[in-house]
Amino acid sequence: MSESLKLIRGEERAEAPASSKPRRAFIKSYGCQMNVYDSERMGDILAVEGYDLADSAEAADLVLLNTCHIRERASEKVFSELGRLRALKEARGAEGRDMLIGVAGCVAQAEGREIMRRQGAVDLVVGPQSYHRLPDLLRRARKARVADTDFPAEDKFAKLPGLSEARIRQRGVSAFVTVQEGCDKFCTFCVVPYTRGAEFSRPVARVVADVVQLARAGVREVTLLGQNVNAYHGEDERHRTCSLGTLIRRLAEIPGIARLRYTTSHPADMDDDLITAHRDVPALMSYLHLPLQSGSDRVLAAMNRKHRAAQYLQIVDKVRAARPEIALSSDFIVGFPGESEADFEATLAMIRSVGYAGAFSFKYSPRPGTPGAERQDQIDEAVKDERLSRLQALLEEQRQAFNAACIGRTLDVLIQKKGRHLGQIAGRTPYLQAVHLDAPEGLIGHIVPVEIVAAGPNSLSGRRINQGHAAGECPT
Ligand code: 5AD
Ligand code: SF4
Repeated sequence: MSESLKLIRGEERAEAPASSKPRRAFIKSYGCQMNVYDSERMGDILAVEGYDLADSAEAADLVLLNTCHIRERASEKVFSELGRLRALKEARGAEGRDMLIGVAGCVAQAEGREIMRRQGAVDLVVGPQSYHRLPDLLRRARKARVADTDFPAEDKFAKLPGLSEARIRQRGVSAFVTVQEGCDKFCTFCVVPYTRGAEFSRPVARVVADVVQLARAGVREVTLLGQNVNAYHGEDERHRTCSLGTLIRRLAEIPGIARLRYTTSHPADMDDDLITAHRDVPALMSYLHLPLQSGSDRVLAAMNRKHRAAQYLQIVDKVRAARPEIALSSDFIVGFPGESEADFEATLAMIRSVGYAGAFSFKYSPRPGTPGAERQDQIDEAVKDERLSRLQALLEEQRQAFNAACIGRTLDVLIQKKGRHLGQIAGRTPYLQAVHLDAPEGLIGHIVPVEIVAAGPNSLSGRRINQGHAAGECPT
């Protein structure tokens, strides 16, 4: 499916006349946090190339869609957005002005050739592993349509421009850092191993250098990103392989870093080193996103998840023994081919026995080229709909119960920004809940104890407690 497109050339075109106005780029990100991070990095590359960021496609000379291929709906959105952009580009052309349209990310990787064929307005296709080559690709795209969906054997992050302190400050006190990319797990529903390629871990020294730079520019919280982040096995300065747990211990020592998180993890990679990091490292937040997908052993095996439901429960027990106050979240898929009512009920039973603070849940979407899509026992859409609504009702009940149980507790809140109303500020608890409270803006970047006074549907409200306690951890 994700055949590697070499650089392909279409019709030659005359180079657009150089304009004296600054160039403006609009980057639209779809899908996961890794895409959000990649979009930021593409923005950094474009800044070096002299582009300012625009707020809309209408205000831009270059539009990049950083796409997601994980479910069918995500891919479809890209083609409909491209239709809209084509009309915009034609209107521009009628006024004698130029506009470049690029497609990046996982749809570009998986369907680059198809995009070029179906949508003549697209000038540039670039896969997630080669966007560090954007400057060269843009130069070429001004002359002829161009696509690069190679998996180069080079560390893309090492080739990206360094971040300026001003840009880091603009993005706020919570930052993401990709430490691992790609996946070797091949769950039978998932396109990631095809679109993002084999697992790759960034060397420890580079991750440490990034986090030191972020901390110096005022970042207090870092989320380590990877498609399979706890499979991290980066090389350290002494050429030893370093696990995620060890990396977290190193990063926790960096002055200024008060909070660490990681996402997204796989149960089979929850090793003891990582679990004890939850016990020993106060900066590692007491919130773990650990996707289960299904609670049925039959479905887990069909999904190639490499663990059974009972093993998941054992991991949860171990993590809770290491960090009693930890809260869990998960991803779930309903209606995987062959899923019976009993299988689905096993998922509900697992949710009841684990108890989640939050979760993402999806109807199974057959993805071309994955083994799940080939199966003959696909589940009816109506059955998927019905199961999804039962599953989501249970998860929502658990989420609200978790939030309601926070009322009256004092939680440490990392203040991130001004609130919506005058005199209000907003931040996050260790459990990633949004909190707003009345307090001075000067607290942005600080971790303050906040008594939770109410729980709304999407956020908590709180009151600042003046008696201080050690910042960085939730006093439960
Ligand atoms: N259909 C539905 N959900 C999917 N996910 C991944 N692939 C599919 C698919 N084909 C979900 C999984 C994964 C999350 C990122 O997206 O739950 O953990
Ligand atoms: Fe996809 Fe995650 Fe499975 Fe890898 S471990 S194949 S990224 S669901």
